[in-house]
Amino acid sequence: MDKKFWLIMAIAFSAGLVSAIVVPSIAEADSGASKNPKDPLRGMAPVEASKGIELPVSNDDMDVAQGRYLVGLLGCASCHTDGALIGKPDTSKTLAGSSIGIAYSNPMMNNYPGAVYPPNLTPDKETGLGEWTQEEIVTLLRSGKTRHGRQTMAIMPWTSYAQLSAGDAQAIASYLLSLDPVKNQVPKQVMPGTPAKTPLVHVGLYRSR
Ligand code: HEC
Repeated sequence: MDKKFWLIMAIAFSAGLVSAIVVPSIAEADSGASKNPKDPLRGMAPVEASKGIELPVSNDDMDVAQGRYLVGLLGCASCHTDGALIGKPDTSKTLAGSSIGIAYSNPMMNNYPGAVYPPNLTPDKETGLGEWTQEEIVTLLRSGKTRHGRQTMAIMPWTSYAQLSAGDAQAIASYLLSLDPVKNQVPKQVMPGTPAKTPLVHVGLYRSR
């Protein structure tokens, strides 16, 4: 009977809003299922979406203004801002990276899923994009390849951003490079099987077998 417990986790990316939803259905949420040591969602809670994170205005250059518009539209700040993934964005660090991780392996299979942290997108030289050229940012957006040639995970939605026109991708890069640098080092990627030291959100769609 315990098996009559269906869990759906979903993430919605839309209009700059990311939400991770944990929905217990069929079995009543308080029926004791959460005391089951095998419940993969033991200790987890639903998270709120961050709404309308105000983006800094850096200058009134047309390219930069277009970039700011696109960064808002494409929801970059809803991952790349500390606290935004759990609905509590730290607006003093908008776009300066997240200390909340995104799990990339199935929490129902791994007690300790792997996790990745959306990096700092402000032009700080040590912890952000300060050493990146505009072209390198464009390449990252349109192919997912970092300036060191590493393929980023598709959690960073480059598979969708690959459709950006060169001009729009350049405008986004101009905007990011025009921001005030904020020093903020995000945690290193966590490998599956290693306990993360930070809260994680779990993303993805799981279907019943
Ligand atoms: C759903 C969350 C999410 C959204 C939305 C998102 N990103 Fe990311 N981004 C990530 C994650 C996670 C990584 C790290 C991926 C990895 O290392 O494999 C990343 C990596 C990057 C990097 C590479 C930085 C570095 O130091 O390696 C850049 C640049 C970047 N994102 C820019 C953007 C921009 C610009 C937008 C909006 C147009 C955006 N991201 C939207 C999650 C997101």
